[in-house]
Amino acid sequence: MRYANITGWGKCLPPAILSNDDLATLLDTNDEWITTRTGMKERRISHVPVSSLATVAAARALACAGKQATDVELIIFGSTTFDEMCPNAASNVQKQLGAANAACMDVNTACTSGMYALTVATAMIKSGVVNNAIVIGAEVISTVMDWSNRNVAVLFGDGAGAFYLQADAQECGVIAESLGCYGESREILAVNGWGLKEAKNAVINNQLHWAFEGQEIFKKAVSGMDQACQKVLAKSEINADQIDLVVPHQANLRIIDTLAKRLKLPRDKVFINIQRYGNMSAATAPVALVEAIEEGRVKPNSLVLMPAFGGGLTWSAHLLRWGERTHSLGESDVELAPCNKTALELIRPN
Ligand SMILES: CC(C)(COP(=O)(O)OP(=O)(O)OC[C@H]1O[C@@H](n2cnc3c(N)ncnc32)[C@H](O)[C@@H]1OP(=O)(O)O)[C@@H](O)C(=O)NCCC(=O)NCCS
Repeated sequence: MRYANITGWGKCLPPAILSNDDLATLLDTNDEWITTRTGMKERRISHVPVSSLATVAAARALACAGKQATDVELIIFGSTTFDEMCPNAASNVQKQLGAANAACMDVNTACTSGMYALTVATAMIKSGVVNNAIVIGAEVISTVMDWSNRNVAVLFGDGAGAFYLQADAQECGVIAESLGCYGESREILAVNGWGLKEAKNAVINNQLHWAFEGQEIFKKAVSGMDQACQKVLAKSEINADQIDLVVPHQANLRIIDTLAKRLKLPRDKVFINIQRYGNMSAATAPVALVEAIEEGRVKPNSLVLMPAFGGGLTWSAHLLRWGERTHSLGESDVELAPCNKTALELIRPN
């Protein structure tokens, strides 16, 4: 039996920080409301396209695994905010990394994109199509944000996380997952005006309109992630109390707490970084796992449960058996271009 061990991990957070107080200068909101209703304190705003964040995160994951770019056989890029639809975004990462031997594909399932990408890469390694892969979850959601709508503008941020996966004979990496979608509710979380169906120049003409039924999304997020977790646990014959760490999608602290309660798992088994980044959509779960490893929360052979949720409305849960290594084998010298603007300057129209 072949498994897909995660042997490299990396993240890239753009440096410009948008605080709750910054948002209060633009919108009728305040730090107290955002903190108590969501758990968020600040988020990042990117000064570069999503492929640049993804390339830096991928280069860090490669260095962490002690691999060269030319070793890579597959790049899967999970996102909703691709710089362009054709050519795909994974090919841009291939070019920037110099990973000339890699096949390249994009995956879009909104906030769960990084986790769905992890499933695709794991399956392709397990089935022998490739021996290794880079998986990326990256998002520059600030480019499609309606900065006049307080219902959504306070909730999101930009970032990227990446993993290097390689074939392994030991049981490790993703050992079970459950994926699904509440397609009948797809309209309750949508960016209207974006895509070929709508006016071609909606982005340019500032005609994007977010449909966002927060309370309905909240309920579906909890039920989707709960059922995905239950299915994964049943499939792998593991009890919730055997889980060492839950690394969930970070859309709202109250969603995370409700889910943990349903799973009967204490808060100290749940990794939380929502206060630093808000919801980075496809990048959220990957960055959270990278930070959980960096902070020593993931130990050799840990069982890690990763529930996620996003537009679609897609939901998922992945059960990971971590391998032996939790330290990096190397560091990358690939860096983002410097940023000379504040987050508020970056989101203000020219
Ligand atoms: C969006 C969300 C934080 C809103 O929290 P909530 O407790 O449901 O808040 P409500 O929508 O009921 O709004 C409560 C009040 O706060 C107000 N409010 C909404 N956004 C606000 C903001 N940014 N600042 C201040 N007040 C705000 C509302 O207008 C409402 O006022 P009213 O009572 O006078 O009508 C919450 O529903 C949520 O997290 N939903 C899921 C979102 C999600 O997960 N999205 C991503 C999926 S990947």
